Amino acid sequence: MSTGLEPVVFDAFAPEHRADPYPRYARVREAVPFLDSGFGVEFVTRHAECSQILSETRWSHQDEATLFHPEADRLNLPTSFLWMDPPDHTRLRGLVSKAFTPKRVLDLVPRITELATGMIDAALDAGEVEAIEAIAYPLPLIVVCELVGVPPEDWPMVHRVGPGLARGFDPDRVLSPAERQARDDNTLELVAYFRDLITKRLADPRNDVVSALGQVHEQGDTLTEHEMLTTCITLLIAGHETTVNMVGNGLLAFARHPEQLAEIRRRPELAAPAVDEILRYDSAVHMTTRTARTDLVVGDRTFAEGESVCVLVGSANRDPRAFDRPDEFDVTRYASTAPTPRHLGFALGIHYCMGAALARLEGEILWVELARRTRTLELAGDPVYRPNLLIRGLKELPLRIS
Ligand code: HEM
Repeated sequence: MSTGLEPVVFDAFAPEHRADPYPRYARVREAVPFLDSGFGVEFVTRHAECSQILSETRWSHQDEATLFHPEADRLNLPTSFLWMDPPDHTRLRGLVSKAFTPKRVLDLVPRITELATGMIDAALDAGEVEAIEAIAYPLPLIVVCELVGVPPEDWPMVHRVGPGLARGFDPDRVLSPAERQARDDNTLELVAYFRDLITKRLADPRNDVVSALGQVHEQGDTLTEHEMLTTCITLLIAGHETTVNMVGNGLLAFARHPEQLAEIRRRPELAAPAVDEILRYDSAVHMTTRTARTDLVVGDRTFAEGESVCVLVGSANRDPRAFDRPDEFDVTRYASTAPTPRHLGFALGIHYCMGAALARLEGEILWVELARRTRTLELAGDPVYRPNLLIRGLKELPLRIS
């Protein structure tokens, strides 16, 4: 159906749109539930349809590589369980959850608190900081590296390759040749790195996820070395390049809405629901794809087997059909006893974010400590956005803090 609207995806790269994609999403969402992207996938704009697709296993996630990265096979890149369907996905996620356990996450509380308070206090001493480099990037980077088992001397390498890999999630067609090359080079570097680290940890296990993956057994089933490799890379990148944007987008939201941080200062128990509100209000992940495994009906549309969609998480999270006052940032929203629909910032269904508990913990601790230790948090210059399409976040966020 022609709507007279330009495909949203290309507008997302216009500098004037990147700072605030929400008016554009609103226009498209009000006009149509589905919109032809112009490159073989249909955009899904509303909360109900997006939720239905993410919750339904007859929508496959296996084809994202082919859809977005038609040349990726050339590199024989490892495939993560993020891009697998059952039964392979079920088996691998089950095995990984034996190593990446709730206890392992809870044990991180003292360390996350130490890191968060140290970073906030250093920012307070400085008075003015570029908050992505000072807080949003290093906090999740250090946490996920220590969790997985990457030693401190290699953190700069992760910092160097992470952004290129995250940008590489975007469709090849919107990447420059240099960005595609950087994605491929960074991937190969990380593959070589983890091959080496896995060999070391298998020989000399430590208290980390790499070692725990090597020790996982379930009814005689174990992870192959290739599966360990893809899992380590998935945890490292999925656990880091997303959380940095939740923190950055959250800091920006608090700088623009100081009364919301004041609310957490008064009621620290709001810090946990605030993480959900940040992921709804300004999602770190803005889109994901699915492909119909059979003919499937969504709303008034029938998708034929093999047809693909791009679920616009960022748009669904602002859908007024699902949320009251969707464009308002309100840290009490998910604390209310009134039923609030789930945001899609961690997705839904079988691929629901495996690190959601860890991301929540990092956010909760950071927002509590920020509220407790600061009086004011203000923008000290214009925020600069990263060029990414699937992942939305800031490259620079100058803040004045007292
Ligand atoms: C605020 C931070 C985070 C956000 C917004 C986020 C978001 C997401 C989303 C939307 C998905 C599903 C993608 C899809 O279905 O296409 C996902 C999956 C995943 N995430 Fe996260 N994530 C975050 C933090 C983390 C952390 C800290 C870790 C681990 C250390 C992690 C590990 C994973 C893994 C392993 C998957 C794949 C799950 C599966 O396919 O079964 N994430 N995440």
